[in-house]
Amino acid sequence: MANAKLELNGTTTELPVMTGTEGEVGIDIGKFRKDTGAIMLDPGFGNTGSCTSAVTFIDGEAGILRYRGYNIEDIAEEARFPEVCYLLINGQLPTKDQLEQFREDLTYHSLIHEDMKKFFEGFPPTAHPMAILSSMVCSLSTYYPEGRDGEDVELNIVRLLAKAKTIAAFAYKKSIGQPFIYPRNELSYAANFVNMMFAVPAEPYEVNPVLESALNKLLILHADHEQNCSTSTVRVVGSSQANLFASIAAGICALWGPLHGGANQKVIEMLELIKNDGNDYKKYVALAKDKDSDFRLMGFGHRVYKNFDPRARILKKACDEVLAELGVKDPLLDVAKSLEEVALSDSYFKDRNLYPNVDFYSGIIYRAMGIPTNMFTVMFALGRLPGWIAHWKEMRDDPAMRISRPRQIYTGETVREFVDINKR
Ligand code: SDX
Repeated sequence: MANAKLELNGTTTELPVMTGTEGEVGIDIGKFRKDTGAIMLDPGFGNTGSCTSAVTFIDGEAGILRYRGYNIEDIAEEARFPEVCYLLINGQLPTKDQLEQFREDLTYHSLIHEDMKKFFEGFPPTAHPMAILSSMVCSLSTYYPEGRDGEDVELNIVRLLAKAKTIAAFAYKKSIGQPFIYPRNELSYAANFVNMMFAVPAEPYEVNPVLESALNKLLILHADHEQNCSTSTVRVVGSSQANLFASIAAGICALWGPLHGGANQKVIEMLELIKNDGNDYKKYVALAKDKDSDFRLMGFGHRVYKNFDPRARILKKACDEVLAELGVKDPLLDVAKSLEEVALSDSYFKDRNLYPNVDFYSGIIYRAMGIPTNMFTVMFALGRLPGWIAHWKEMRDDPAMRISRPRQIYTGETVREFVDINKR
């Protein structure tokens, strides 16, 4: 494609243009600052790309999401989470033997060092599990410092994937004052997590296959989403050559925000508020439209999707299926569906292309599974781990990658004399 041309104060700069494998066009603006001294300004990076990537493709207009070229609809139906982790991190679906070996690695690295259990004693019982998860993941770097050669990184990737679910389950047990339940080697990734969450030493516990399959689908649907806030955070932190655990811990913190992964917890709190207010969802739709109120419909809207988030479509269907299979009737699901119906018929939402996103229905399923609301964003983080790792690795393996260091436009005081405190 022909170069782009940008003219400023009489200087015209030709800027190379690149086209991605799905026809997306990007203009390399590197030369422009050299020619004119001017930078591009794009608060929130809504129109700016930070990198090229082969991990995930999203078409926001068409509502398409593909992991390494595979449609999310197919993967969510057919695959198991370890298979999706392997695909995202290595770029190809594993053979049977490769998957067997990967599963075995994840199984045999799922324990955390016994001394790490002491860290939990320092947290108050009310500690938010996202704070525990990010601190414990960063602390893994004290037990597994990254070596200079690739072997440590590959092993640390397996350790992180395997241990994060154990840390998450221990955080839950800590919050309810129950003893930690250790991983069991004969269980699948999802079943192991369910067992560590809900088993108690006093009696035998059988993992309900409905919970195992629902969790498997939820983890897959959250596994990656290209350059979202937390993944961009992982890339920025990793670009300074910070180790894997430190980079991922930063991503966990970014995900915690209510505008990002923290939204799934806020959605449930919003639905409960509406239910307790006589199911007056029209009042809350009106509030969400009112510029003078800071109320937003949590779980609605997306920076990229200007159509239905394909994950929300899959989760809405899974809600009905999982709740029916578990024999759970949740009034919040009816509130969610009514809210969606009213909002999607309202021009304020339609004009702004505001549709339910991945967080709108996921919490209903987590609730039906018995997972407490403050663990919802931890569940999102467990799912997003392979995506974060895949992007961290892609960035670190890219010879063209430099440390991330955006520019700014200064709007503060111009130069002024310093006056001694005794003369002020
Ligand atoms: C995730 O990026 C990813 O891929 C993220 C994610 C992933 O998988 O990693 O998909 C996961 O984070 C999903 C999003 C979860 N967050 C929420 O559900 C919180 C509620 N949604 C919003 O706060 C908002 O929609 C965002 C944060 C998701 C997107 O914000 P943008 O792109 O910055 O859009 P904006 O805030 O500029 O809104 C544009 C307009 C504004 O109105 P106007 O100024 O044009 O009049 O839409 C309005 C906003 O007021 N708007 C909403 C709204 N979201 C946007 N109005 C009411 N309710 C909402 N939820």
